Amino acid sequence: MGQKTMQIADTVEGLRAARAGLKGRVGLVPTMGALHAGHLSLVEQARADCDAVMVSIFINPAQFGPNEDLNRYPRDLPGDLAALEKAGVDVVFTPTPDLMYPPGYQTWVDVTDVARGLEGERRPGHFRGVATVVAKLFNLFQPQAAYFGQKDAQQAAVLKRLVCDLNFPLEMVICPTLREADGLAMSSRNAYLNPEQRRAAGVLYRALSAAGEFYAAGQRDPNRLRATMLDVLRAEPLAEPEYVSAADARSLRELDEPSDEPVLISMAVRIGTTRLIDNLLLPLTLNNRADLTAVLGG
Ligand code: PAF
Repeated sequence: MGQKTMQIADTVEGLRAARAGLKGRVGLVPTMGALHAGHLSLVEQARADCDAVMVSIFINPAQFGPNEDLNRYPRDLPGDLAALEKAGVDVVFTPTPDLMYPPGYQTWVDVTDVARGLEGERRPGHFRGVATVVAKLFNLFQPQAAYFGQKDAQQAAVLKRLVCDLNFPLEMVICPTLREADGLAMSSRNAYLNPEQRRAAGVLYRALSAAGEFYAAGQRDPNRLRATMLDVLRAEPLAEPEYVSAADARSLRELDEPSDEPVLISMAVRIGTTRLIDNLLLPLTLNNRADLTAVLGG
């Protein structure tokens, strides 16, 4: 039997027709395109768990602030479609901004507490944009499972809350971050880095790992964990830390006191004009799909 053909929909009607043709458990992988191995690992997981896999490619303007990188965000639709076809995806949805937010659009989804700190504090409106578009994608695709990456840990926690609070009948799956050889988390934004910046970007994972080892040796003081990350980051002249955090992994509230509950250590760091984020769950043994899915924002 030959390989099935991947369907590409760019209208709501086309997507609904394609969805209606799929049987059994359907997995959705929402993306903004410029796909890398991290995205493809989500697709692979969805294929392992589901009867059919659907992917959205949509650079969502609503989740970018006015001074952010919407206009230069990497785009490679032909490359993405070829990679998804090879990965055995059933349906890809490629809407335009006008299709998702037509004139007169006025409905927004706001997740509150868990969206407030960390990225939410530095990127006002970001999670409102993410929650809104993902709620729309869930309604359009009607998936039984949805796959997100650990690298955007707060996004995963916000979306878990959304699924629970709005009673979406689907399972959220949070998959571990894929990393380059030096530990740099795979991200479409890594394409912005020149070779010198790319070398410097390895410092994020070194900083997280140093705090992770300190924790493994028994250190529970969140101030010491944050200081350890900052010390490593400051040794890299090209890195400008925006924040480092040691937060309760369920509530994402910044810790003031030592805690024996799972901790999310995370950071945003500028390298030149590129803003990179990364995180690890502590204890380090929790950085696997089952524990990430259970603990983050849980
Ligand atoms: O993680 C992303 O790529 C985006 O935030 C998402 C979930 C596709 C929503 O636009």
